Amino acid sequence: MEALMKRLNKISGGKVLDVATGRGEFIRVLKDVLMDHREFIGIDNSDRSVAFATNAFAAEPVSIEKMDATAMSWSEGSFDTVAISNSLHHMDKLDAVLSEMGRVLRTGGHFLVSEMVCDADQSPAQMTHVLLHHWWGRIDTCLGTTHRPTYTRAQLDEIMRAVPLRSLESYTFSYPMENPHDPEFVDRLMQMMDPYVERISEHVDFQSLKAEGETLKQRLQDTGYASAQSMFFIGKK
Ligand SMILES: C[S@@+](CC[C@H](N)C(=O)[O-])C[C@H]1O[C@@H](n2cnc3c(N)ncnc32)[C@H](O)[C@@H]1O
Repeated sequence: MEALMKRLNKISGGKVLDVATGRGEFIRVLKDVLMDHREFIGIDNSDRSVAFATNAFAAEPVSIEKMDATAMSWSEGSFDTVAISNSLHHMDKLDAVLSEMGRVLRTGGHFLVSEMVCDADQSPAQMTHVLLHHWWGRIDTCLGTTHRPTYTRAQLDEIMRAVPLRSLESYTFSYPMENPHDPEFVDRLMQMMDPYVERISEHVDFQSLKAEGETLKQRLQDTGYASAQSMFFIGKK
């Protein structure tokens, strides 16, 4: 984590695009860790995310736009930095998104990707995060939203090596969490689970996903929860 922070501290962001910005949390991270920046733009194709992020940045010089990441409105080389976080596994057409990000990035600009991984060599508490995330993903899939299982490190490496970039560095990190058994945190997660699965009460997979949810609740209590490992790629066009 320290080496990654040091590296990011050396990058001058310039005009930064955050793709699939969701609630805009990656913009907050990049605003903190990049050496400097001139402007931030976040895009997302969901009205709900756009409304949330627009509101979250109402008092800051950050613009949020509704846009499909496979067909961006900007011309080639419009950005000094393009970024995407925890969204590769949400993309219906991942190749098209990565290609668009490369197109709107200027030559010499930075291509930043942060994505959680599912490799089994993580702590039991981190594996709770992975299993929960995959459960959420399967429920989203029942609702017709693209949400695949998260990738392994090797799969992410392969995806990123296929992007035409001049250089590519990779780091593994995880967000620190003091107490995997923090009762307040565990309770908050458990409270979210029933309403999440109830949304598919009419689906043929409802009973099995509900039963799996109960097993995961037990695991949360027994094993605890910690933030899964992520990979961070820094590429240069
Ligand atoms: C996990 S969330 C984003 C997380 C956020 N980047 C972060 O780091 O906190 C994934 C987002 O991808 C968005 N999304 C999915 N497909 C998209 C597309 N084709 N174009 C733009 N946004 C897309 C969804 O609407 C959702 O807000």
